[in-house]
Amino acid sequence: MTIEVRELAVPAAYDDGTQEWATFAEMVEVRNAVLAHRWGGDASHAITAREAYGTASSQDDERLVYLGGWLDGRLVARGFVELSRHEALHIAGVDVLVRPDARRRGVGTALWRTIEGILDADGRTTVQAWVDHRTGDGPVLEAPTGFGSVPRDASEVRFLENLGFRLEQVERMSELRLDEAIEQLERLRTQALPHARGYAIRTWTGRTPPELLEQLAVLHQRMSTDAPAAGLDHEEEAWDAGRVERIEEIEERRGREMLRAVAIHEATGRLVAFTTLVVASPDRPVYQHDTLVHGEHRGHRLGMLVKIANLLALAERIPRGARVLTWNAEENRPMLGVNESLGFRAIGYEGAWQLVRADAP
Ligand SMILES: CC(C)(COP(=O)(O)OP(=O)(O)OC[C@H]1O[C@@H](n2cnc3c(N)ncnc32)[C@H](O)[C@@H]1OP(=O)(O)O)[C@@H](O)C(=O)NCCC(=O)NCCS
Repeated sequence: MTIEVRELAVPAAYDDGTQEWATFAEMVEVRNAVLAHRWGGDASHAITAREAYGTASSQDDERLVYLGGWLDGRLVARGFVELSRHEALHIAGVDVLVRPDARRRGVGTALWRTIEGILDADGRTTVQAWVDHRTGDGPVLEAPTGFGSVPRDASEVRFLENLGFRLEQVERMSELRLDEAIEQLERLRTQALPHARGYAIRTWTGRTPPELLEQLAVLHQRMSTDAPAAGLDHEEEAWDAGRVERIEEIEERRGREMLRAVAIHEATGRLVAFTTLVVASPDRPVYQHDTLVHGEHRGHRLGMLVKIANLLALAERIPRGARVLTWNAEENRPMLGVNESLGFRAIGYEGAWQLVRADAP
């Protein structure tokens, strides 16, 4: 049995017929096989090679390193390292995926050893990893926050604990079946509107209007400090209009559509709340991204109102069968409260893991 691990080159162009492209596309298949296995055969978490290439070819704000793991000549594993460029230069995000039929043969560990070399070379002393689990029964490992848990005997939990990672936080993964929620959304909107006098709600699809970019950047920056992070090391992110434009450009390159809803404080014209949905295709889950209400404007039900406005815009975009997925810290009562009332239900839990590398050079 031979194990080989090597860094994968990002192909120079999409589907350019090179060997590099073939390996890149095969790596996406490995990712999709692992995700389908995790979700009990549900293939709707698969991404396309175009989406993966949109990510891989956009490296202005993070350096992304892809690794392949071969077992007896067959690509069975993918490693991924995310190295921020603007802030938190001592922190890295990692992900290791091994095909179910190739596990417990040391491939995951071999990938991790190669990743350690990348972390050393880049001075990254703190490593973070996020792993989803379906809801289920059985023994659990509780989050140190006191909120939420993950299955104690899952392969990925054993693997990360074995490497010295510590579970820091648990996020609840929830799903909304939009068709079933519409009436409730309309009702909640009517109830919430009187609390939000003096604010206007606005929605759009695709690029943010240029005059709002700077203000949206400010809210993105606040997201990096205001969302609960438990024991996860983090630093305030530096956002400007250009960074907002770049994330929108990446979604376009991935072939995805962004739906935004914002709240504007009418007296000052300031943007004070935003929320984002990302649509890959009508038959795939829609991802809820960040939602934030500026600290000085909380208590007016703006979080709920921007979410409702965006979900109703989504219902126009996908008239039937839309499913929306969202991740929230299990201790984030205000956000969970909004989501529960909208009709979101838990379908899984995500462990947020951290390793502080005492032995890093
Ligand atoms: C976690 C994962 C990457 C491990 O890959 P792997 O190739 O099986 O890992 P290894 O063979 O190197 O195992 C290393 C150690 O992890 C632990 N481990 C891994 N799977 C385990 C399991 N099912 N039960 C108990 N311990 C397990 C063991 O200590 C193992 O060492 P051992 O086999 O000598 O006892 C793989 O299960 C996977 O891809 N899971 C889904 C993706 C994921 O969530 N990855 C983690 C994100 S970083």
